[in-house]
Amino acid sequence: MTILSTIPEAVVAPQTMLDDVVAGLSQRQKTLPSKYFYDVRGSKLFDDICELDEYYVARVESTLMAEHVDEIVSAIGPEVLLIEYGSGSSSKTRLLLRNLDRPVGYVPIDISSDYLSQVGLALQAEFPKIEIMPVAVDFTRAFDVPTPCRPEMKRVVYFPGSTIGNFQRKEAQSLLAGMADLAGGNGGVLIGIDLDKDRDVLHAAYNDSEGVTAQFNLNMLRRINRELGACFDPRNFRHRAIFNEADSCIEMHLVSTCHQTVNVCNYSFEFQENETILTEYSHKYTFRSFEQMANEAGLVVKRSWTDANNMFAVLYLERA
Ligand code: AVJ
Repeated sequence: MTILSTIPEAVVAPQTMLDDVVAGLSQRQKTLPSKYFYDVRGSKLFDDICELDEYYVARVESTLMAEHVDEIVSAIGPEVLLIEYGSGSSSKTRLLLRNLDRPVGYVPIDISSDYLSQVGLALQAEFPKIEIMPVAVDFTRAFDVPTPCRPEMKRVVYFPGSTIGNFQRKEAQSLLAGMADLAGGNGGVLIGIDLDKDRDVLHAAYNDSEGVTAQFNLNMLRRINRELGACFDPRNFRHRAIFNEADSCIEMHLVSTCHQTVNVCNYSFEFQENETILTEYSHKYTFRSFEQMANEAGLVVKRSWTDANNMFAVLYLERA
């Protein structure tokens, strides 16, 4: 039914990625955008992280969704077009697709086009009655939502995993406003947010003992080497995740273990020993702090679900 072969091969144009990398490495605090974690290997490493005991995020969210799926699907209503931002392996979505009331379509949006086309094919086989319409884009940029054959009653944007936490407040707010627009007047937004919690639990989740998160972080450098012809030596960097109390977020860094110079195309970047590249923010919210941001983006919380330990929350929002 769906022509999956129309997914473009290279989603991130090399020039765009080069511009982002050069801009990030030119700042005083060097940064690299976290969206570049997700090539095929990075997407798989993230799935491996989700299997770790220490990474409570995925497990708690899945349990929460499973426990409240009846209430969640009734909040969403019938004949929905479900649009997911950063769908990855769509693991939490399968539960929704199995339980929603005659959903017309599912639009998984992901920056990793290769991964997306694999997942899209598998999903279409699994859910023959739901039109699966993958869109391989960077969801922070403008994109068109495909029109399903059967018209939808409403659109619901699904943004699980607390991926919203990767964005700083202003960006997160404009992303939420964009979702509200996309969902339209009668639509909704179903979002997962990671809640502020014990620092040791957070530390363990982002510095796991098996080093999978370290591999995930270092994979960014391998990817930049491969796609931009850079010459990072991953052995000269190590993973570090710390909690930033002022901004209530985990920060992941790659720490240069020596004084070194790294070439990226025609640019060269000098690293002092212990200088870091900031690769990811992962904000941890209170219910109130998130609600306030959502309100400012024109959304109101209609329903919310949280676990007994208040680790994670799933919220259903509508336009104010
Ligand atoms: C997929 C962005 C939600 O922030 O927890 C996991 C990514 N980084 N371990 C997160 C991640 C380190 C994850 N998100």
